[in-house]
Amino acid sequence: MARNNNINLDEVGYNTDDKTKLKIDKNNQDIILDVKNLQVDFHVGKNKMTAIKNVNFQVAKGKTLGIVGESGCGKSVTANSIMRLFPKTVGEIADGSIIYEGRDIVKMTDSEIREIRGNRISMIFQDPMTALNPVYKIGEQLMEILFAHQNISKKDAFERCVNMLEKVGIPAARQRMKEYPHELSGGMRQRVMIAMALLTNPDILIADEPTTALDVTIQAQVLELIEELKKEYNTAVLFITHDMGVIADIADYVMVMYAGEIVEYDTTEGLFEKPLHPYTYGLLKSIPKLYEDIDRLYTIEGVVPALNEMPDGCRFSTRCEYCTEKCKREKPPLINLSGEKKVACFRYV
Ligand SMILES: Nc1ncnc2c1ncn2[C@@H]1O[C@H](COP(=O)(O)OP(=O)(O)O)[C@@H](O)[C@H]1O
Ligand SMILES: [Mg+2]
Repeated sequence: MARNNNINLDEVGYNTDDKTKLKIDKNNQDIILDVKNLQVDFHVGKNKMTAIKNVNFQVAKGKTLGIVGESGCGKSVTANSIMRLFPKTVGEIADGSIIYEGRDIVKMTDSEIREIRGNRISMIFQDPMTALNPVYKIGEQLMEILFAHQNISKKDAFERCVNMLEKVGIPAARQRMKEYPHELSGGMRQRVMIAMALLTNPDILIADEPTTALDVTIQAQVLELIEELKKEYNTAVLFITHDMGVIADIADYVMVMYAGEIVEYDTTEGLFEKPLHPYTYGLLKSIPKLYEDIDRLYTIEGVVPALNEMPDGCRFSTRCEYCTEKCKREKPPLINLSGEKKVACFRYV
């Protein structure tokens, strides 16, 4: 039976005067990355499948934007497109622009993007072995990054790398420089990868689930480290996670993605205080609480639809307890509410 889904926005504290206007703050000089209308398609056999669509966001210097959503929602595709990490045979940026310092990354030549990747924009991955080569010593791999992007002597490069390893909390850094990745623990390898990403003092650090494989103590240390480095260097951080608890710790702004689209955007405070999208409620409900029986942990029923099985209307409609006939038929637009809030749900239109 259909229930009354309409929410009065005034009652929940939002005004809706300018909900169709796209808010872009042109006076804000601190925006370092401006992603507009991004769409990425993959080639699967003879077919093209759209993995992300209509993705718009900005990242400011010294701020962290968290991207959250379950596995398969398009978080990594979003991150990888900023680094232009797909070979053309696999996928392509089919639409949109990624403006970094006034230039569009989408239109850059391969050599232009190589200048930026791993230098001005760098990334830490979930699995350090994605970034570390098992056959080279830690020091060789770190120094290589400096040689690739800077005119620097071997001695100076060595010292800079030791310094960065110390900064990320690696004891006996000088010694570690001469070791191979397999000689380090998982936590230490993660730190090496963070050191690699930060060595060139990038403008933007993209962290794609960097703590998922770590135990909680090391996870907390890594988050703290990113926080400190962000403050020191005014780095803009794009932090990807499926964990709302981590978002609460680290993000200034949050973008919630579902099935390749943005369903809600807000300041972290706003999102936790007034989550509006039913998918966001679900994610928030699934944060484990201290002392809670782990067996009773909430999970959103169902799974993220595969790219070739996307529902016509709202993509969350198949799992949403508030779903109506309209939701199954039509796609809710992402609307601007007051403050930073944006949401894509017919309950608020
Ligand atoms: N190389 C690829 N070829 C085809 N589909 C892909 C490829 N990479 C990712 N996808 C699809 O794109 C969607 C988003 O994936 P991804 O960004 O990796 O999700 P997340 O990082 O949020 O877990 C998923 O449906 C995934 O199956
Ligand atoms: Mg991912």
